Amino acid sequence: MKIFLDTANIEQIREAAALGCVDGVTTNPTLISRESGKFEDIIREICEIVQGPVSAEVVSTDAAGMVEEAKKLAAIHECVVIKIPMIKEGVNALRQLKELGIPTNCTLVFSSNQALLAAKAGATYVSPFIGRLDDAGHVGMDLVRETLAIYENYGFDTEVIVASVRSPLHAVEAAVEGAHVITLPYGVFEKMFKHPFTDKGLAAFLADWEKVKGR
Ligand code: G3P
Repeated sequence: MKIFLDTANIEQIREAAALGCVDGVTTNPTLISRESGKFEDIIREICEIVQGPVSAEVVSTDAAGMVEEAKKLAAIHECVVIKIPMIKEGVNALRQLKELGIPTNCTLVFSSNQALLAAKAGATYVSPFIGRLDDAGHVGMDLVRETLAIYENYGFDTEVIVASVRSPLHAVEAAVEGAHVITLPYGVFEKMFKHPFTDKGLAAFLADWEKVKGR
């Protein structure tokens, strides 16, 4: 499973990328609003750091506007992937961008029918928002499972990005289901490294090594 970071924070991206576990980044207007600097500059810098797919979202709500924005964003760097909202106009834009050879990530997906339509229109990635579904009393991971089954049934090559992630358990479940990608908030990425037995075990080894050192 590929791991993307769901952040626009350059320090977090730099630190995680240095570990060699990060394959790409997803951003959205909310994440961009938390950082300073121009949108285009932030996206360019992220692309240069990760050298992998970096999602940048359009804010137009009509297909023509989305395609115009997409062309400008795609010109920033070859790693840019255009995030398009799952609305009818967005699906139209997905089809046009597929024809132009511009990679896309269909976002704000909350049902498997939406995921099916995005794939039919030629989305490169689709992003089911599992945490927001969990928050509303649904089982978000069911949407991932259904989407993967539908794509397998019909041979779609659209990749599923498990998005709106809240905990390390989501990462385990996504990997067990065979999701192509998970996009992680930095806090969840950090938690995935930790286990109290690792810390306890290391402390014991180091303490015992003190007894050996003076021999
Ligand atoms: O990638 C989409 C994700 O950023 C949404 O997450 O936490 O706002 O539901 P959240």
